[in-house]
Amino acid sequence: MTSISIGKLSDFPKGKMKKVSVKGKEILVANLDGRLYSIDDTCTHEECSLSDGFLSGENVICHCHLAQFSLKTGKVMQKPATGDVIDDEPTYKISVKRQEVFIEV
Ligand code: FES
Repeated sequence: MTSISIGKLSDFPKGKMKKVSVKGKEILVANLDGRLYSIDDTCTHEECSLSDGFLSGENVICHCHLAQFSLKTGKVMQKPATGDVIDDEPTYKISVKRQEVFIEV
């Protein structure tokens, strides 16, 4: 695992989420009340981009079939509307040093 800079803290405003590409992975970074969390951006259902979805409290809702994942743990909070059983999302360790954001990949 290496720690890679993904930008300044100001690039990730409160209440917003953003997709970043790190080492060939698409990762969703969300700022929940000033704390950053990161999970895989690709939905484990049918691979839609979660960053095109919606924030709902501590969860992200996939815009394709409305599965919900916890941004804190990556766990499935609600199955997709199709009723399929899906996997949790991988999470990534994220840290801030001198206003710069690092992610471990
Ligand atoms: S692709 Fe995300 S819920 Fe279906």
